[in-house]
Amino acid sequence: MGQHLTRQLLLYTIQSSQMTRWFDLRMLSGTLRDIAVSSLFGDRFDCRSSMTSLPQPDYYDYDLKDAPAFWFDYTADVGDGWNPTFAIASLLCDPSLAVQGAPELPTGPGRLLIMGGDQVYPTASREAYDQRLLVPYRAASYHARDHGPRPSDLFAIPGNHDWYDGLGSFLHLFARERNVGRFRTRQHRSYFALKLPHRVWLLAIDGALSGEIDFGQTLYFHNLVRTHIQDGDRLILCTAKPDWVASDATASKAQATLFDFEEELRAVATQSGRPHIAIVLRLSGDLHYYKHFESTEDGQEVHSLIAGGGGAFLHPTHTGSEEQVQRQESQESTPQSALFRLTKSFPSPQESRAQTRGSLFLFRVNPSLWLVLLLIYLLSGLAYSLAGSEILQGAIESTYGSRTAGIATAATLQVLVLCAHALALFGCCYALVDVSKQRQRAVTTWEERDRFRIAIQHAMVHIVPYALLQLGNSLFDHFYYAGSTAYHAGHSVRSNLIAMSIAVLCSLLSAIVFWAYLQIALSRYGRHANDAFAALRIEGYKNFLRIEVKPEKLVIYAIGLRSVPRHWEVVETFLEGTPCVVPASDEELRPELIERFEIARPPIGS
Ligand SMILES: [Fe+2]
Repeated sequence: MGQHLTRQLLLYTIQSSQMTRWFDLRMLSGTLRDIAVSSLFGDRFDCRSSMTSLPQPDYYDYDLKDAPAFWFDYTADVGDGWNPTFAIASLLCDPSLAVQGAPELPTGPGRLLIMGGDQVYPTASREAYDQRLLVPYRAASYHARDHGPRPSDLFAIPGNHDWYDGLGSFLHLFARERNVGRFRTRQHRSYFALKLPHRVWLLAIDGALSGEIDFGQTLYFHNLVRTHIQDGDRLILCTAKPDWVASDATASKAQATLFDFEEELRAVATQSGRPHIAIVLRLSGDLHYYKHFESTEDGQEVHSLIAGGGGAFLHPTHTGSEEQVQRQESQESTPQSALFRLTKSFPSPQESRAQTRGSLFLFRVNPSLWLVLLLIYLLSGLAYSLAGSEILQGAIESTYGSRTAGIATAATLQVLVLCAHALALFGCCYALVDVSKQRQRAVTTWEERDRFRIAIQHAMVHIVPYALLQLGNSLFDHFYYAGSTAYHAGHSVRSNLIAMSIAVLCSLLSAIVFWAYLQIALSRYGRHANDAFAALRIEGYKNFLRIEVKPEKLVIYAIGLRSVPRHWEVVETFLEGTPCVVPASDEELRPELIERFEIARPPIGS
């Protein structure tokens, strides 16, 4: 795609880049296919193993001696719908960004922009990156261009959605020094190290799909510690997923997770005579909200942030499962048993809970879900009608000379149809159950052993009303019209119409039951948070970070955007008629400060 955006292209992108419809059947089938393929081949053909041959320096040097001040921006989970993606891009590019409650916020984009994973949704492709990431960021850059701050360098680590095409599109965009609006990509691999001013390092780690850190990458960072990082330097770790709340404890013995990586890094540092290298900050996305955790590790305070608010749908903050996970883990005295204290959430748990109220709007935001259920029920209703048809009963009756045989055969077939329907719905419910794979850490009762029970209970609510109504209709026909002439004259048509009506009614009921199940699972057990909020597709409550690197401390500004504009105008302004996108007249961007905190340099030897 060229560098210049036309008015037509912008209008097309604004109109077509809606938030991903996760329960749309076509989208879901395509995404599941990509996930299955990438999961199947990801472990066998890990492209990170071939990256060691790519020419990447040991680190990118931003230790700018002559710069009076240095700051960088961080955003993650970016390329989804136009409204939130462009809103955050506009703030990141704004040369005179004013944030309510933060008068001392550094003005203008940082020297660097770090994208922390999931740069595109639902799956990666060059077209998807173009439409969902490049166009919004280029449009936002034009908006700010006449004020002319110098270009910023852009670095990114891939999240699972970037990995779904094997990382080809990600590397094509981020590892070939391309322009993304006012930003320019610099890296050559999916992992990298940045040397920042004042003895601060940023290590960006690619955990691929499973969270495992491959051997080649591990060696790269070990070499960095042995040869470049000095005793007393401070480290910022970036990962696409917040392993401190989400890693799979049952798999930790078999693969190198972030905790193992950190332990090894500390060991290498100690062996190299640099025992005071300190991890002071972890940055992550993957969960689409802002949360700030504090922990004390090796006697030092560490801050861990989840800031996945760059564009994708909101995740809930009121379920609380992550914090409980850590509390349980902390009782086990494992090396990674640090207690992570949650100190800030955006949105607040109260605001998050409020978002789920009135969420029967599921039909409005995901109409295709009901259409899928309607199709299943109509097929079932048709099969039920055919099984009980007069033609079939008549054929059996004339063959065996027994009316009872005809009725018994029809009744048996109808029961079999209902059993097949029940089995199909039970299968869906069983596959859906969000059991915990983290047996050592989970605190809910939804373990693998409970899966059958939960699926049966859920499926019964779908199946019982449908089966009772269909059987009631058949029994009513049989007993009410038996022996009368009206039975043979009108039974089939009337009964079939009622059977199909029952199917339509119950498909609607099933959609409501499905949504109620998600709500109960979320509110009572903290499960299905992703499914329930993916269905809601909430655009608001976005966030990004601006981090100032000072000689004696790091200053972190978490900036939130409670609501994003939904209507935009393409106007001819600024540069030689280059179109620029602004919120419609009655809407505007109102960024606010979620929190500001500082990380002081720990004294060497502490
Ligand atoms: Fe994400």
